[in-house]
Amino acid sequence: MLGTPSGDQSGTTRDDRAWWRDAVIYQVYPRSWADSDGDGIGDLPGITSRLEHLVALGVDAVWLSPFYTSPQRDAGYDVADFRDVDPIFGTLADADALVARAHDLGLRVIVDVVPNHTSDEHAWFREALASEPGSAARARYLFRDGRGDAGELPPNNWQSMFGGPAWSRTTSPDGSPGQWYLHLFDASQPDLDWTNPEVGDELESVLRFWLDRDVDGFRIDVAHGLVKADGLPDGPENFDPATQATALQPMFDQPGVHEIYRAWRRLVDEYAVPGADRDRILCAEAWVLPIDSLAHYVRPDELHQSFNFSFLMTPWIASELRISIDEGLTSVAAVGAPQTWVLSNHDVVRHASRLGYPPQAGRTRSEGIGPDDPQPDPALGLRRARAATALMLALPGSAYLYQGEELGLPEATLLPDEARQDPTWERSNHTSPGRDGCRVPVPWEADRPSFGFGPTDATWLPQPQSYRDLAVDRQDGVDGSTLELYRTLLRVRRDRGLGRGELTWADVAPADVLAFEVTGDAGATAVLTNLGTEPVPIPPGSRVLAASGPLPDSALPVDTTVWFVPA
Ligand code: GLC
Repeated sequence: MLGTPSGDQSGTTRDDRAWWRDAVIYQVYPRSWADSDGDGIGDLPGITSRLEHLVALGVDAVWLSPFYTSPQRDAGYDVADFRDVDPIFGTLADADALVARAHDLGLRVIVDVVPNHTSDEHAWFREALASEPGSAARARYLFRDGRGDAGELPPNNWQSMFGGPAWSRTTSPDGSPGQWYLHLFDASQPDLDWTNPEVGDELESVLRFWLDRDVDGFRIDVAHGLVKADGLPDGPENFDPATQATALQPMFDQPGVHEIYRAWRRLVDEYAVPGADRDRILCAEAWVLPIDSLAHYVRPDELHQSFNFSFLMTPWIASELRISIDEGLTSVAAVGAPQTWVLSNHDVVRHASRLGYPPQAGRTRSEGIGPDDPQPDPALGLRRARAATALMLALPGSAYLYQGEELGLPEATLLPDEARQDPTWERSNHTSPGRDGCRVPVPWEADRPSFGFGPTDATWLPQPQSYRDLAVDRQDGVDGSTLELYRTLLRVRRDRGLGRGELTWADVAPADVLAFEVTGDAGATAVLTNLGTEPVPIPPGSRVLAASGPLPDSALPVDTTVWFVPA
């Protein structure tokens, strides 16, 4: 049950004990987790029916990707109504039931908010298209006249994250070409104009709508993109949309975003329940570099968390991981925030496949892997993924898991072209397979239709046959399975207070071994990750708490992580 008093004598939640500082949060991608009605698309009642899985796993909270009314051009990140549930996912009553059931089970619920853009089917955008240039309706978006003699050129050189220009031209009622509108993503996702106060007021009202329905926080989509540089100037000519994470881009990480998040923090703080550890939280999806700039998003009066994508993108090389972990910890310590670790989500190649390539060669971001690309080594990838997760879950701070990673699911790399739905595929002229490969429906029961995803064989993306043996029921209670590994890691992490611990490096190990101790409530826990080519001895007298693979001869094999209590 939620709302347990923190035991703090002052009667208010002491910030350094607040639940989110070391929470493990599990991302559910609603289309692909559990389908209750057999239409092949997951839904809210399906999620509610499977929440016990998360309790048995041992996570603290669930984050739901968007389930709002949407034409689904970008799998729900194109929202037509921020305050309602799309019929393919259920109803508002289903959302309420999900939140209530999760809270009964002691799980918190984070929902997505998409403030950078709406769907082109949102009432505001329809009204804008039907209105004159210069009208109040158009002023909620970024409409501009084109360049060139007849306005035939886009207003600037910005590129869409999904490929192609970030501008589309409208057609006037008389059929002649009209103004252009900005869309950093698909043409069906027009960007809002955050210099217009009506936009901020509307999004704050949306936050209140969901807080009043008792959600525990928000993951903020494209949190670094809301404010654009004054005058929408051209960006660097060599701009590569696949690396959104650079500074110096006029559409990202502009100073003005921080004002928005200060206001949002004040708003969610109104909903905290003193003494009850019920902080409502805000987590940024911000692909921002350098990492010190990212830390600005989690200053004390701004957001609670911001995904550390630098860690996610770090290759499987000990020296680079050590630097990444150090920078991750020191950057947020400077502002008094915890770090937020993540290895997989619905936009990147699953880490069980990403790590199945030689270091540096793994595809990370939204470009995906297609059947004609070099294929990852599945055994190597899974082995390293388990070691990487054990490394991540030992680190102080909060961590996010992506549905199916607890089963060791690989990316679906052999999807047929005709199955692809990610707009990246079309917008890149079929050069980038896109993100569908990490979004395939999850297998629950090996011998049921759709591997137990739903009551029928229907799945909105085809499931690889390899998912059968990875189904939850094939791993449940099976010693050494990835599912049991995750359960063990999460239990030990909690028991030993690793998420609230202090990390100290141990400089005794070979250079390609990461070795550190995390000192939490239960004393020191030692962690070794072997990224070298030879097994390394585990110090004699150690008491092993968890390991990402077998430990023959009391040694740590390559691509394996162990947690132990030192002698
Ligand atoms: C974020 C989402 C991604 C979506 C994009 C546009 O990056 O995670 O899935 O396509 O925003 O909303």
